[in-house]
Amino acid sequence: MRSIIDILDLSVEEIDELVATAQDIIADPKKYAEVCHGKKLATLFFEPSTRTRLSFEAAMYELGGNVLGFSEAQSSSAAKGESVADTVKTVSCYADIIAMRHPKEGAPLVASRAASVPVINAGDGGHNHPTQTMADLLTISREKGTFENLTIGVCGDLKFGRTVHSLINAMSRYKGLKMVLISPEELKVPSYVKKDVLVKNNIPYVQTTDLEGAMSELDVLYMTRVQRERFFNEEDYLRLKDSYILTPDKLKNARKDMIIMHPLPRVNEISVAIDDDPRACYFKQVLNGKYMRMALIMKLLKEAGTI
Ligand code: CP
Repeated sequence: MRSIIDILDLSVEEIDELVATAQDIIADPKKYAEVCHGKKLATLFFEPSTRTRLSFEAAMYELGGNVLGFSEAQSSSAAKGESVADTVKTVSCYADIIAMRHPKEGAPLVASRAASVPVINAGDGGHNHPTQTMADLLTISREKGTFENLTIGVCGDLKFGRTVHSLINAMSRYKGLKMVLISPEELKVPSYVKKDVLVKNNIPYVQTTDLEGAMSELDVLYMTRVQRERFFNEEDYLRLKDSYILTPDKLKNARKDMIIMHPLPRVNEISVAIDDDPRACYFKQVLNGKYMRMALIMKLLKEAGTI
């Protein structure tokens, strides 16, 4: 049974296929309105979410399917001590496919080994968030027209930011990538991401604390939130939370065709004054996430022989 736990579980060819399917859904949504008729998606969210859970649910409804699940661990039998493995064995009796978010790194992998239906990682701790990356890839494809020869700046919490880790993994497979890693010293990209992805794939990268200094060379600026929920110490969070706040004046050296991305939710790191800038793409990412999740649900259910 195929599950998607890491963005690298999908080949470059499969990413292309999913992007093409998403584009076709956008062009002709009616064609897909009954594809999952009678099928059920379970959304098992042990950690808060707005976009990921609701876009998975909207995706399944728009494919003609149904949805069941829970949005917090406390409303499931996890609160009584039930394991992830037992939870998904149970849910496999009721649903055809599972999307799971969990605060513990590796929990969706454990789930995929116990489940008898496909499991999609909807974000595990500070580790991975492959379907956010799928939303990001469709956005880059639609806005830039290519995945090649891009200079991508990622800015903010690069230590705990699972969306950044998945994006670096995904983009590392395309020619001509350059990465600019912009963060406070304490929130740098983990060394395993540098060693296993950037160094291993010979991807040129620079690390800096200076967002404005890096701005002029970027094709994509990917802002991220400093994540209060990942800190052990509130004082550190308060000291670091406003390290980067993107305001219109900071864009003075940015290219006219640079795109500004953010997985959302944002707190302070992008001023609302940027929202009307034609380069702001973060709400486009939100919508693109639904189309890519539709494409992924269909692909996994087809491969499982369910539809
Ligand atoms: N981007 C993202 O994962 O948002 P949510 O936490 O709202 O799902």
